[in-house]
Amino acid sequence: MPDPLLEMNGISKSFGGNLVLDNVDLTLWPGEVHALVGENGAGKSTLMKILNGVYTRDSGTIRVCGRDSHIASPHDAREAGISMIFQEHTLAPHLTAAENIFLGTEPTGPFGLLKNAEMDRRARAVLELHGFHLDPGTRVSRLTTAENQMVEIARALMAATRVVVMDEPTSMLSQKESQELFRIIRDLRAKGMGVVYISHRMEELPLIADRITILRDGRRAYTGEFASVGAAEIIRHMVGREIRELYPPRGQPGKQVVLEVRNLSGRKQYRNVSLTLHEGEILGVAGLVGAGRTALARGVFGLEPPESGSILLRGRPVRFRNSREAIEAGLAYLTEDRKITSLFPHLSLAHNISVAALEKVEQGIILRLDEETRRCRELISKLDIRARSERTPVYRLSGGNQQKGLIARWLFAESMVLILDEPTQGVDLGARAEIYRLTKEIVDRGGAILMISSDLPEILGVSHRVAIMRRGEIVATLDTSKTDQEEIMRHAALVQ
Ligand SMILES: Nc1ncnc2c1ncn2[C@@H]1O[C@H](COP(=O)(O)OP(=O)(O)OP(=O)(O)O)[C@@H](O)[C@H]1O
Ligand SMILES: [Mg+2]
Repeated sequence: MPDPLLEMNGISKSFGGNLVLDNVDLTLWPGEVHALVGENGAGKSTLMKILNGVYTRDSGTIRVCGRDSHIASPHDAREAGISMIFQEHTLAPHLTAAENIFLGTEPTGPFGLLKNAEMDRRARAVLELHGFHLDPGTRVSRLTTAENQMVEIARALMAATRVVVMDEPTSMLSQKESQELFRIIRDLRAKGMGVVYISHRMEELPLIADRITILRDGRRAYTGEFASVGAAEIIRHMVGREIRELYPPRGQPGKQVVLEVRNLSGRKQYRNVSLTLHEGEILGVAGLVGAGRTALARGVFGLEPPESGSILLRGRPVRFRNSREAIEAGLAYLTEDRKITSLFPHLSLAHNISVAALEKVEQGIILRLDEETRRCRELISKLDIRARSERTPVYRLSGGNQQKGLIARWLFAESMVLILDEPTQGVDLGARAEIYRLTKEIVDRGGAILMISSDLPEILGVSHRVAIMRRGEIVATLDTSKTDQEEIMRHAALVQ
């Protein structure tokens, strides 16, 4: 029997008196893909950040290849052959993709100058090797979310020699890109490397996982062969209860048109888009990554005013020059890349929740602080956001709980037209069910929701109709009760 690549034993960690890991063990063998799952805030990222020297453990031991290891910084982890793809984006936006891939290990010339050409060449080779198509000379700030993730993956793979930790690597990837990543993972396994794979997407795990560890409230609830545990059992260990109804029953939309978009075009990313959204309706927007869905949402919300076409809100033409005007008119937009574009990491959870509604204060509605606190608390408990209090700065929350905070923001603002861009990405099953229930509450009150999603079961489960975009155009609008995943994919990808 070879030594394990990695043995973490009895790992405990508290943040300010709050115990978030309690005596957790994890062993990783050569050639093993180990799934690490658990609800939002269960401690997955923290455990892996300890392994990568980002956080120091309070107690416990880490052995790498049979030897005690004193990983105290990300640099130590790299030296030990361990690297991590982080859940939150960690790239430097003003540097190029290649510079990010080599950050900290840049090849230098005789006078210590960066050899840009050499770096670009090597970065291109790495990206191509993994089947990622992007130009290494592009600044990261100009890359799409999916491309960002590819750079993160390429960077981690450059450094890793023994262990790669992937913290929700596919949450921003299309299905095809995810398949590509799974092929890479199988390659790494064949080379005898170890992979720790964190994901909320249960359907991915059978494709790659050899073993699974389930964390619950900072404790290890289960470890075993993946093949010997069923989906229901995994959920039971994770949640401690059963989730019976993921999608709530759908109500009947009204006849009144709330939002109408006519022949909207913008910046070559979408063309001639027309759609109507009725009172009480959830309209899904499906399509491949890059089909123009997010650009359309940004256009409607005034973030990038469209070039031509018109938008009508309850029959009246509107033209938002910025998001503030859109918010004042009662629109809300939950962006796809929440952490970068929407959160104020150092401000409190309560502030992050109430900030959109505060823009309305200018119109003369004065929110009293205790009322604000009361409503924040109500939403925090409704969405089961795990934070010590509503005054905790959001950077201290787990990834999934930060997302719930942003959803709470739009609920707090009581916006009547919501644009949700991939609303449940990175959110655990219990919270998903809760988010779907809340979307139903909003439409039952007469609101309307435009829901961009790459999760087809979700689109089929909650929306009334689905508009399918391909290369910037809407190619079909279907009644979700009369269609299925295959038909939607056929329109989205134009495969026969
Ligand atoms: N820097 C920090 N300061 C204080 N508390 C923290 C910090 N980082 C994490 N925590 C807390 O530790 C707990 C575990 O968080 P962690 O990020 O490990 O969860 P997770 O399992 O990765 O969840 P998710 O699925 O949402 O990403 C949470 O309660 C979180 O609020
Ligand atoms: Mg996490």
